[in-house]
Formats: sequence, C-alpha cells, structure tokens
Amino acid sequence: MIKHFIDIDNFSLRELDLILSTAKKLKKNNTRYEKLFNNKSLGLLFQKESTRTRLSFSIGMQKLGGSVIELDSKAIGFGKRESEEDILKTLSCYIDCLMIRNNNHKKIQYYASLNVLPIINGLSDHSHPCQILADIFTLKEKLGKLSNKTICWIGDYNNVLRSLIQTQQLYLFQLNIVMPKKILLKNILQINETKYSKIKFTDNIKNGVMKSDCVMTDAWVSMGERITKKKSFFKNYQVNDKLMQMAKKNTIFMHCLPAHRGEEVSNNVIDGHQSIVWHQAENRMYVQQAILSYIFNKK
Ligand code: CP
Ligand code: NVA
Repeated sequence: MIKHFIDIDNFSLRELDLILSTAKKLKKNNTRYEKLFNNKSLGLLFQKESTRTRLSFSIGMQKLGGSVIELDSKAIGFGKRESEEDILKTLSCYIDCLMIRNNNHKKIQYYASLNVLPIINGLSDHSHPCQILADIFTLKEKLGKLSNKTICWIGDYNNVLRSLIQTQQLYLFQLNIVMPKKILLKNILQINETKYSKIKFTDNIKNGVMKSDCVMTDAWVSMGERITKKKSFFKNYQVNDKLMQMAKKNTIFMHCLPAHRGEEVSNNVIDGHQSIVWHQAENRMYVQQAILSYIFNKK
C-alpha cells in the first residue's frame, strides 16, 4: 500500500505518536541508523521558496543513507512538456517518494490520489503538516504532556494554523487563537466550521496570551499571497516583550520561520531566553526522517 503524508487529519493520534517515537529514537542516536534508507530515493519539488524544509529533508535523507534529487519544475516541464500524471508515473520508476511544496493544495491531494508513488505535502496554501508535527515533537520535549497545556497562536489564519488546529483535535491542548477582528471576520466561515472544544478565538491579546505555556506566531503575509493592507491590521499584534509579559513566566516562544523581524516578532523575543525557534528548526530533520521511515515502512 502506498502511504502519503498530506494532512494531519488523515492520521490517528496513535499513528502520529508512532511517527514521533521514531523521531525520538532517531534524534537520540542518528548514526545508529545510517543505513536505514539505503537504496531509497526522495524527490523534492519546490514551487515556492524554502530553506528548512529543503535542508531537513535533504540532509535527513542523506544521513540515513538515502539519496535525494531536487527537481526543477521548469527543467522537467512539469505539466507542460508532458502531463503531470505522466511525469508522476515516470518519477515512480526512479524515486520512492516525492515531496511537493506548492500553492495549490488540491493538486497535492490529486497527486496523492493517483497512488503512483508516496507524496508528502511540504507546505501548501492550505496546510503545513510537516512543520506542525515537528512542532508537536518540540512542544512535547519542552512541556511534556500537552493535554493540560495552553498554546496561544497570535497571527494570521494560514496554512500553519490550519495544521495546528487539526493537531489540537488529537492532542487536546487548549488553543487560543488571537487575531485582529478584521482577519477573524474574514475567516468567519472557516471558523464557524471549527466547532471544536478547547479552541478559543479572540481579538483580545491579553485574554489569549494570559495562562499560555507557549506563544506561537508566523508571517502576517504568507508566500504566494498578494501583499495587501493586511499587514496594517496586525500592527498591534506583534509578539514583543510587552506581550510576553502578559503570559506565564516561563512561556516559550515558537515560530516556524522564516521570521519577519520587526513585524510579527521583535528581535528581543526571537533572540531572547524564551525563544526555542532554533530547536524547532533542528527538530524538523528528525521528524522528516520519521515521516520518511513511516512511508518506507522502516523503524
Ligand atoms: N518553516 C519552514 O517550512 O521553513 P522553510 O519555508 O524555509 O522551508
Ligand atoms: N505561513 C508561511 C509559512 C512559511 C514556512 C508561508 O506559507 O509563507
């Protein structure tokens, strides 16, 4: 059976926990598994920019003995020189898995539905499951059990948040989602669809941040979005010292990166002692390796 990794809500808690326990083993002793992916090849297809996802998949694969090929959409004429379906079938003759980052989630779902080779969603306009699974790994490392913890998301209603909401449904932490009223209203249809317990939406920063064990943010404007006046709605929603002081004393700060310093986060916070953003970035690699182990049926 061909396995894919498209969205968090395609998985049970048990399945995700298994991937996370593999990640833990790999992090503890990466060199012990240096032959795990012998003879396995991963293709990477980025239709948007990337540093962490590109590097964590690439280096993660190579460290476990696998090989990686980065495909350039233009060079292979993806969907132009021949149909996307024919390209995917061709790729399946050479590689064991394809990671795609694009701006069209439906396409990623469609490629997976063809079931010609395993597909990993490396970020789309809709979601970023690899990031959030790695963040759950980091959160568990730092905070332990999550069901009695509060995470405060302050920022846009975007791909990372959608994956975070899906994860909340399994790990059942309290999730406070703070955003300016204009952004809340714009997303009200999606929000109405989320009739979830332990999720609170608010435009009131203090209400959202107070009692938080973790404050998380992301870009106000995501890749591929046209820059509109959206940024001006967020101007009072920067994660800075004043905001962090409203939270618990030992609250941690997380950001998937890249950060836009001076916009969603101040230098003081991202460089400060509560920030764990570099641990997050490092953990991407172990979780990526664990996702690949799951796909390749390896332990
Ligand atoms: N967080 C993340 O996915 O980073 P990149 O966009 O650099 O891959
Ligand atoms: N929401 C951001 C995440 C980047 C990793 C974006 O899509 O640009």
